[in-house]
Amino acid sequence: MFTTFSRKFLAIYILTTIVIFLILFGTLSQTITNHFVSSRYRKMFNEIYSIETEYYDSYIQGTLDESMFHNQLYTYSYRAGSRIIIIDPDQRVIFDSEPSSRSLMDTIINHDYARQSIGGETVTQIGTFKPYEAEQVIAVASPLKYEETLYGAVILTSPYPSIKEDIRYVYNLILISFIVIIFVTFISTYVFSRSISQTFKAFNATAKSIASGDFSARIEDTHFSTEVIELAESMNYMAEELEKLEDLRRDFIANISHDFRSPLTSIRGYVQAVMDGTIPPEKYEKYLTIVLNETDRLTKLTNDILLLTKMENEVLKPEMEDFDLHETLRNTLLQFEQKILQKKIKMTLIIEDEDILVHADYNQIQRALTNLIDNALKFCENGDEVTLETTLIGDQVRVSVKDTGPGIAEDDLKHIWTRFHKADRSRGKDKKGVGLGLSIVREIIKGHHQTVDVYSQLGKGTTFTFTLAIAKKNNHHL
Ligand SMILES: Nc1ncnc2c1ncn2[C@@H]1O[C@H](COP(=O)(O)OP(=O)(O)OP(=O)(O)O)[C@@H](O)[C@H]1O
Ligand SMILES: [Mg+2]
Repeated sequence: MFTTFSRKFLAIYILTTIVIFLILFGTLSQTITNHFVSSRYRKMFNEIYSIETEYYDSYIQGTLDESMFHNQLYTYSYRAGSRIIIIDPDQRVIFDSEPSSRSLMDTIINHDYARQSIGGETVTQIGTFKPYEAEQVIAVASPLKYEETLYGAVILTSPYPSIKEDIRYVYNLILISFIVIIFVTFISTYVFSRSISQTFKAFNATAKSIASGDFSARIEDTHFSTEVIELAESMNYMAEELEKLEDLRRDFIANISHDFRSPLTSIRGYVQAVMDGTIPPEKYEKYLTIVLNETDRLTKLTNDILLLTKMENEVLKPEMEDFDLHETLRNTLLQFEQKILQKKIKMTLIIEDEDILVHADYNQIQRALTNLIDNALKFCENGDEVTLETTLIGDQVRVSVKDTGPGIAEDDLKHIWTRFHKADRSRGKDKKGVGLGLSIVREIIKGHHQTVDVYSQLGKGTTFTFTLAIAKKNNHHL
């Protein structure tokens, strides 16, 4: 029944209001009754006092004759709404303000309050006082004295139900205000909880859209509260990130497909030509070499993608060991001997005097060096210079690969680390690449918690640097 937020909220709110009201009413009702009863007593005491001082004293003194005295009492009783009874010391009624049909004139009142008041006490009581009164009354009895002589007592009674009516009137007021409060809270709670519900519905709808693949879905128009705005912002941020990821995924697939298709097309073309005799046997070697190179390219591409994916998903963690950095540099350079000679590159190695032991993954660092040197050599023209340098900085060593090649345009510099980014798409055949080399370098260095940087000026050259941690053993003799 109370499954939705607004219903739950409404139920809790109304229940709370009712409980508060009941507690308030329970504690207040006794106080209200007490207040009315005591104020009625106070009024009756005042009445008795004025009967005594204004009329009775003059009656006893003889300045007021009996019939005048009785007339005054009748008028007084009528005005005050109380019954006035006067008894003599024998508890016999000598005056009763009630009309003669119900008058207790000459009756002996044999009741506690009559007895006590004759005894000199002032008595208050609520009760039925049968047979003298028909209904419940509130009564005050007080002795009548003049100069220390007791002449009797005055008994004042007023109907108790009239007090009850007053109390009921107050109760009704409270009840009406309670109904108004319930009504107002109901309306405001309903409006409030509905707007919360609608906010939730909007979130739900957006989440469902995103889940079903519509990454452009956003939560709009949320100014409900700061928490909701923050939640909406987080959710929109998540959607944006998902959208970016989705774009990246799409680009990735498109790039891979493209990079796979072109070598496959040329391999297929040459093999077909060999088979149908378009290529004569004496030229087989030339074309099969091309086929072999294309196959190598495909293998490299596949390996690069696999490596990059593993590193990005943190499946491939660096296997740390201590090894000689300078020896690694020399070994890596050996692979490029042929290319350096071919392109007549001036290769310089500027290294620190002593051996440097670094703490890193040997294979991965060799891979990073290979990618950077490969780029330097690939983009350089004949006769350019490439310099490898190591510099000690505290407990780190900085390795830099510097070339005097074409440089990278500033706009491109931001993107070179992105997968498949190739700055110059119209470059020559020997400069062909898939654009994964630098992404791999970045992932390797990131995996080592080190930094990699690039400085480049168009037309002047490019320098890539990265840092490595020096092995602890090495630190001792530094
Ligand atoms: N030394 C450099 N001089 C000039 N441009 C460079 C240099 N190194 C990288 N770049 C630019 O950055 C791009 C990205 O380099 P990256 O090594 O990632 O890809 P690639 O060399 O084109 O292909 P791959 O390394 O996957 O065979 C290059 O295509 C090139 O435009
Ligand atoms: Mg490269």
